[in-house]
Amino acid sequence: MLLQVRNVTKRFGGLTAVDDVSFDVPAGHIKAIIGPNGAGKSTLFHLISGYHPATRGTLTFEGAEITHLPMHEIARRGIARTFQTTSLFSHQTVLDNATMGYRMHAATNVFDALLRTPRARREETESREAAYEALRFAGIAPLANRIAGSIPQEAQKRLAIAIAVAAKPKLVLLDEPVAGVTSEETVEHAELIRHMANEGYTICLVEHKMTLVMGLADSIVVLHHGKKIAEGTPAEISADPAVIEAYLGAATHA
Ligand SMILES: Nc1ncnc2c1ncn2[C@@H]1O[C@H](COP(=O)(O)OP(=O)(O)OP(=O)(O)O)[C@@H](O)[C@H]1O
Ligand SMILES: [Mg+2]
Repeated sequence: MLLQVRNVTKRFGGLTAVDDVSFDVPAGHIKAIIGPNGAGKSTLFHLISGYHPATRGTLTFEGAEITHLPMHEIARRGIARTFQTTSLFSHQTVLDNATMGYRMHAATNVFDALLRTPRARREETESREAAYEALRFAGIAPLANRIAGSIPQEAQKRLAIAIAVAAKPKLVLLDEPVAGVTSEETVEHAELIRHMANEGYTICLVEHKMTLVMGLADSIVVLHHGKKIAEGTPAEISADPAVIEAYLGAATHA
């Protein structure tokens, strides 16, 4: 099992954002996490990536516990993520952004970098090459020298994926990868995510667009008020009364 989430809870003061959640992510799978607004999906990603510490429970990656590891160590072990609001270094080039993606996840030595040792220079070449490869993978290599903040929204979403895959992680957490893009672009983006899976990336996907989720996911976890209320295949989930109730309830109370 690539990732095991066991009884994971996150409290913010009196609010339990993630409540005793357990599930597995097998290698090679696309696992979707869905649920109404505020269900705890992004918080769950923050826990897996080490951005927030879990209040309780354990996270195991490739058989080793990662629950209390710092974010950079979790990244180094092969878990990459994109953020719900695209977090780009918007005044830098597309290539620089992808290069930083590589550096965030690769084991780089700060002293080598400061002293500009031969190893640091070699790493610089490596990181540029890895960044270019990630841009090609995401279909935005022609935009390499553009300023990241100036490229279209859909290309920025592709760049977020390029940043995440630059260091070839094993698990990629995608938080709302198609938020704010047109439905035509959503189809193209789904193809990119499918391509990632075909290339061997394991994917956890948070997304509100159900056509994307149902078309891509091998299995789906449904969160509601922080709790897992269902888990199954797209067909099972779309027929699950508790899931339908959670979404209808959320809609009428919104
Ligand atoms: N840093 C924080 N401090 C306090 N409360 C938080 C924090 N982050 C999230 N929350 C709360 O935790 C709950 C879950 O939030 P989260 O962002 O995980 O939901 P979500 O499922 O990603 O929602 P959305 O679909 O709107 O993105 C919400 O009630 C939110 O207000
Ligand atoms: Mg969210």
